[in-house]
Amino acid sequence: MELADVLDSCWHGLEEAVRDRRHAWRLPVLATIAQDGSPASRTVVLRHVDRVAPSLACHTDARSPKCAELLADSRVSWTFYDSAAQVQLRVRALATVHLARDEDPIALERWDRTSLSSRRCYLAPAAPGAVSETPSANLPAGLLERSPLPGEDLPGRANFAVIATRPIELDWLLLRASGHRRARFVLEGEGAPAATWVEP
Ligand SMILES: Cc1cc2nc3c(=O)[nH]c(=O)nc-3n(C[C@H](O)[C@H](O)[C@H](O)COP(=O)(O)O)c2cc1C
Repeated sequence: MELADVLDSCWHGLEEAVRDRRHAWRLPVLATIAQDGSPASRTVVLRHVDRVAPSLACHTDARSPKCAELLADSRVSWTFYDSAAQVQLRVRALATVHLARDEDPIALERWDRTSLSSRRCYLAPAAPGAVSETPSANLPAGLLERSPLPGEDLPGRANFAVIATRPIELDWLLLRASGHRRARFVLEGEGAPAATWVEP
């Protein structure tokens, strides 16, 4: 087992998770720092991976609290777990929020590539997290049972945001009855990451 192969397996797994909706790393937990300094975490869909940039990204509603949190403090942590392979990957990263309402080119390019069914949640009339007097689905009347038609999706664009994160450190953990293994990769600066084995 070589450190370079471990790092390659991390990026390969992340790339597969974007392609394959059934991949175990498709639904990571993304942790941010709330404005009162407490941790805040939630499940998201991994939407974009670029090992060269490097970058990991998800999509969100620009009105959701996590966007304001990231403007105040860009530090995030991703946690991925593949229970079949028994591999955990944690990624410390710095986030940038790209807002379609600001005509941000990254947000617009990703919006163009989302499906009509994915766009439905960006048509939510109220901000995510707003208090509701009923058990609300937060969808416009008529869109509970179907995707928006072309044109109906357009108001959702203003609520669309891409959370793009630049990884700083990868922490890989493999669980085995014969002995766990753990490695850390620091990606700061140009050139090859600083790789080291770590006690599990
Ligand atoms: C399986 C699953 C996938 C989710 N994917 C996303 C996502 O890609 N983007 C997102 O903003 N919220 C997603 N959510 C909802 C978030 O977990 C969270 O409830 C919501 O974004 C509000 O988070 P916040 O209040 O911390 O901003 C997902 C939830 C689940 C259970």
